[in-house]
Amino acid sequence: PAGDAHVGESIFKTKCAYCHTLDKHAGHKQGPNLNGLFGRQAGTAAGYSYSAANKDIGVVWGENTLYDYLLNPKQYIPGTKKMFHGLKKPQDRADVIAFLKQSTA
Ligand code: HEM
Repeated sequence: PAGDAHVGESIFKTKCAYCHTLDKHAGHKQGPNLNGLFGRQAGTAAGYSYSAANKDIGVVWGENTLYDYLLNPKQYIPGTKKMFHGLKKPQDRADVIAFLKQSTA
């Protein structure tokens, strides 16, 4: 589905912001800073201590990879240290991805 970045922002605030920031001037939280995520190789945010599983997954983050990953992060990256069950609704994933994309320019 097409994503709505405005709706995605509110989903990000309630479901992701406890562990992630998009502010490029901020550091990492429990999870890596997601500024600049689009087009970035997984596991490469500078200065963040990833699990080996996340570091070695070998994908580039974009619309398709994020759509699959966010459904169930622990299934997409077996062994990840991330404690998040995922976003089951396709529309929720599309909306968050639209927000991530516009926020990481
Ligand atoms: C990793 C997105 C929710 C903790 C990641 C990565 C992405 C992401 C794209 C991989 C980053 C990379 O490879 O550089 C999101 C989004 C969320 C969300 C969009 C909300 C829908 C959460 C929550 C937590 C969390 C709620 C904490 C409870 C982590 C951790 C990692 C991670 C610890 C690193 C995992 C590892 O090294 O194995 N997240 N996340 N995330 N996230 Fe999230």
